Amino acid sequence: MAEPFLVESPDVTYSQDFIEAKYTYSTAHVCRENGVTKVRPCSTRFTFRTGRQVPRLGVMLVGWGGNNGTTVTAAVLANRLGLSWMTKTGRKTANYYGSLLQASTVCLGTGPSGDVYVPFRDLLPMVHPNDIVFDGWDISSLNLAEAMRRAEVLEWPLQEQLWPHMEKMKPRPSIYIPQFIAANQEERADNVLSGSMAEQVEQIRRDIRDFKESSGVDKVIVLWTANTERFCDIVPGLNDTADNLLRAIERGLEVSPSTLFAVASVLEGCAYINGSPQNTFVPGAVELAAQRRVFIGGDDFKSGQTKLKSVLVDFLVGAGLKTKSIVSYNHLGNNDGKNLSAPQQFRSKEISKSNVVDDTVQANPVLYGPQDKPDHCVVIKYVPYVGDSKRALDEYTSEIMMGGTNTIVIHNTCEDSLLASPIILDLAILTELCQRITFCTEADPEFQGFHSVLSILAFLCKAPLVPEGTPVVNALFRQRSCIENILRYPGATECHHPPCPRRHPRVQGVPVWGTQGARRVPVWGTQGAGGPSVGYPGCRGSQCGVPRVQGVPVWGTQGARRVPVSPVGSSMMVPVPRGPSMDGSPFPSHGGAQGEQGPSARGVPTHRPWYPMGARTDARGGAQNKWIPVPSTSGSQ
Ligand SMILES: NC(=O)c1ccc[n+]([C@@H]2O[C@H](COP(=O)([O-])OP(=O)(O)OC[C@H]3O[C@@H](n4cnc5c(N)ncnc54)[C@H](O)[C@@H]3O)[C@@H](O)[C@H]2O)c1
Repeated sequence: MAEPFLVESPDVTYSQDFIEAKYTYSTAHVCRENGVTKVRPCSTRFTFRTGRQVPRLGVMLVGWGGNNGTTVTAAVLANRLGLSWMTKTGRKTANYYGSLLQASTVCLGTGPSGDVYVPFRDLLPMVHPNDIVFDGWDISSLNLAEAMRRAEVLEWPLQEQLWPHMEKMKPRPSIYIPQFIAANQEERADNVLSGSMAEQVEQIRRDIRDFKESSGVDKVIVLWTANTERFCDIVPGLNDTADNLLRAIERGLEVSPSTLFAVASVLEGCAYINGSPQNTFVPGAVELAAQRRVFIGGDDFKSGQTKLKSVLVDFLVGAGLKTKSIVSYNHLGNNDGKNLSAPQQFRSKEISKSNVVDDTVQANPVLYGPQDKPDHCVVIKYVPYVGDSKRALDEYTSEIMMGGTNTIVIHNTCEDSLLASPIILDLAILTELCQRITFCTEADPEFQGFHSVLSILAFLCKAPLVPEGTPVVNALFRQRSCIENILRYPGATECHHPPCPRRHPRVQGVPVWGTQGARRVPVWGTQGAGGPSVGYPGCRGSQCGVPRVQGVPVWGTQGARRVPVSPVGSSMMVPVPRGPSMDGSPFPSHGGAQGEQGPSARGVPTHRPWYPMGARTDARGGAQNKWIPVPSTSGSQ
């Protein structure tokens, strides 16, 4: 397969099947000895191997007939067919706006005429969304054309063009356990499986195999975009281990449909992503995925209000302002809103939305004490008239200098499903790519894949699932850096030249160590270390081919003299080298220490909390991983 660019470096080799890149990751170990904080640089030499053969990808959506399911299917068809349609403001053409991989760019380096940007999708060989084949399940039997009309998301002239293609698509019957979603969904549940729980899981497994065979796809990824379920109790003996979970399914005990789909997918070796807020990934499901080395990811698409929050609070706190109160109000009128009008389903969403600022707040002990955090309130109301056009109103109040107050109010209106659809595509495509990346180190030369909990997906998820014991990063641009760096390392678009004398600022998205089975493995992309804080004036990207970050000096001229140009004095985005900090960095404020003193070291939640029913929204309050007493295992609404 032809790459959009080639990296010329002794550390990079291209074979017919693989791109292989060597990369030295440098960090610093921090400890306290005799009252002195000591920082010891250390480095690990990695080899990344990325398969170049892009497979034919099938994506099976649970909730295919919903607003997201129909919209993402329609969008891919419209792009594949090159459709355009008239609206009152003119002709629109199909596109992938909102997709990180398709519609955003990264800087590759500097060419003769300045910075060279490429789309994210060009960093490594990836599936193109136009080539994805969709299938899926829904408890509602409407074909995809009728379901698209019911969703009221796309303009009618577009729907008319898509109709003949989509009316042939019909969701497969699904697992329906009424007590997990709102009672108001019952009227659409006319396409449901019967039989025991175990038989239904078997049917889902057969469906996956059938789709794979009949469509000719090489790989299948399953993604939950069905209704938000209520949270499950975590009960020892029921769902705390893989064996117990499988036994609970055999015995027909309380297991949510989303967890049943997760189990079926994992048993079929298919990655499973949860786009809704509920705790699908009970400990037994996580363990099963780890045992089978299958990727899981989630939770809850990060599409609108939460995405903005994960930027705005990062900005406020990062600027040294003490955010004291965040109040978020939403109203929406689609079926998601109808389902969320039930208290238990709303509760799942509330929990999912609530922890999004935690890491940002905890990273600033100057402003926030250990028990200190902003008030955070989320309200969601169902207003049928506004349909998919969700309204979100946010008020952020911060303390500023000398007792002053700063209040920012934001009003956002947009079609919810048109934000979620490109996220669905990114989730599937990134997950597939990760299945083709393996790596080894000098100390552990056997190639291995990423941890089965795919935390690189955090940018796309409101409540990122991370391996136990690793920090959760919510801040959006840290999460973006994680993806960017992970795509750069195996693609070797970092500086690999061994004799490179340049000092690199520290970046995020670097490995922290976790465990998988008995093995110690790097967990990628979850480290919330401080971003580059110090520039290195000696680096000129065009000469060393080093990709760049913002916020550090570049070289300009002043009279006859060559001087570094401050980013403040020029544009906001200034080209500069990027890469992890190197051994012996003279720039202590790179904050190598932050990696070691990261959130987990400060007692911050290190895993997506498993909330028992009625648990506090506040993860710092210690609700996570708390076991509830054994129980009423069924119908515990
Ligand atoms: N649209 C967004 O921006 C966004 C953002 C974050 C999260 N989400 C989440 O994504 C999910 C889907 O959103 P939506 O707007 O498409 O909702 P929707 O109600 O339009 O679609 C959900 C579909 O799931 C089906 N369904 C319910 N239970 C099922 C089951 N057990 N098996 C198969 N199908 C089932 C329903 O019939 C419906 O067609 C919701 O949980 C929502 O909270 C959406």
